Amino acid sequence: MDVFEALYTTRAMRRVSEDPIPDDVLKQMVDAGIRAPSGSNRQGWKFIVVTDPEIKNQLGDSYREAWDFYVKEFYGGTSDMGASNVLDDEKAQQVVRISKSAAWLSENFHKVPAMFVVLSRNDPTGSSIYPAIWSIMLAGRAHGVGTCLTTVLGMFKPEKAFEILSIPNDKGWKIDAVITAGYPLGKWGVAKRNPVDEVTYLNTWGNETNWNLKEPLWNY
Ligand SMILES: Cc1cc2nc3c(=O)[nH]c(=O)nc-3n(C[C@H](O)[C@H](O)[C@H](O)COP(=O)(O)O)c2cc1C
Repeated sequence: MDVFEALYTTRAMRRVSEDPIPDDVLKQMVDAGIRAPSGSNRQGWKFIVVTDPEIKNQLGDSYREAWDFYVKEFYGGTSDMGASNVLDDEKAQQVVRISKSAAWLSENFHKVPAMFVVLSRNDPTGSSIYPAIWSIMLAGRAHGVGTCLTTVLGMFKPEKAFEILSIPNDKGWKIDAVITAGYPLGKWGVAKRNPVDEVTYLNTWGNETNWNLKEPLWNY
């Protein structure tokens, strides 16, 4: 696959089939992930690939609790996650769609065929793990596997996840993400984003680029 196709079309694919992902694919997703950079090349990371139905069931229960807590605590339980209060109509509608899709994932988390629990420790930058996460997702894309980066489990139910996965409590590990993975039920497409023109300056803050870049440079 063309690298730009992978970059432009890797996006949150939450609705996936229950078909298993072959081991060779899972292996390559982690193998690509560990090629990613980390601060001082410390590689303070671990990956737990979960395919066992019983463990997925337990993680699914905790994920749902974490998601419900997140929506209630931060957005007062509103179905649009408070979007209509702060965003224009089109963007608010987009948030509503995402929140519906995310709620669906929280109900169906246990059915996703594979998940990558991503852990890190001893990372003063706090962000060394993100290139590895993105590489796992890109490698999945190259194999036609849809992924979704999720963080609520590690944020709101870490003790439960540690217990389920037998992660030692005293070694400094933290769960940065759980990447869900499966073959998508929907179609791949270019991720919708605010255009380059709106978010980029040249040389100094406020100096517009004149690139006139409103549409993606790669498309189907
Ligand atoms: C740091 C981070 C945390 C995220 N956490 C969650 C999550 O806990 N649950 C979820 O369903 N999606 C989560 N997402 C996925 C985002 O909602 C998604 O990437 C975003 O809406 C863009 O979707 P798109 O690429 O399909 O356009 C997270 C994404 C990022 C980058």
